[in-house]
Amino acid sequence: MPDRRPLVAGNWKMNGVAASLTEIDAIGDGLIDPPCDVAICPPATLIAAAVERAKNTPLMIGGQDCHMAEKGAHTGDLSAEMIADAGGKLVIVGHSERRTDHGEADALVRAKAEAGWRAGLLVILCIGETEAERRAGDTLAVLDRQLAGSLPDGADAHRLVIAYEPVWAIGTGLTPSNDDIQTAHAHIRQRLVATVGNNGAAIRVLYGGSVKPGNADEILPLPDVDGALVGGASLKAADFLAIVAAA
Ligand code: PGA
Repeated sequence: MPDRRPLVAGNWKMNGVAASLTEIDAIGDGLIDPPCDVAICPPATLIAAAVERAKNTPLMIGGQDCHMAEKGAHTGDLSAEMIADAGGKLVIVGHSERRTDHGEADALVRAKAEAGWRAGLLVILCIGETEAERRAGDTLAVLDRQLAGSLPDGADAHRLVIAYEPVWAIGTGLTPSNDDIQTAHAHIRQRLVATVGNNGAAIRVLYGGSVKPGNADEILPLPDVDGALVGGASLKAADFLAIVAAA
């Protein structure tokens, strides 16, 4: 089995102002020989400052989204190159809030993942079923469809991470059973191997959706779970560091 170093990544979403950088300080200072890779994706306004504050620590900083183009007339957007220029090391693409709030479909997510690679960033590509899809028993079919539509050619473990985030579990306090998480992750891994060959087995698959200090101990040790994408619980350094410790 390939050695997959876990990744615990925090997504601050549209939260955080300059005063919140003290949480970056506390997270960075709390990472002494961390058992995994650790990242925070603050809002775009804080990326450069967070990079500066985290610079002597193992904490990586990233973006929450990027445009597919390198530059141009796209008011309000941010390119992957800009994230890299600010010192970011990674970018999240295809988050369900982008898919819902901005109508992002698989083909666009794929283009954004390619943009992240073009800029030399590690890409965290999010997939996951809605509550209705889960109830209809379509979870694995949805994951297959999203992977087929949004996974660029040439994926490998150095530049791609998949995050399995059931939409109904995000921000709700609900999580799938451990069996359901493991089944989804094993399925995703199988698809990765089928699509990109044996390299696929080394690609990390994170779980996301209401990960908290209280459930990280159960979720993170599951065999095909290689870390977590954390929303709400990444806003407070103490909670986030407790999740890192569980990895
Ligand atoms: P949550 O968000 O941890 O607040 O549920 C997870 C995510 O959206 O990545």
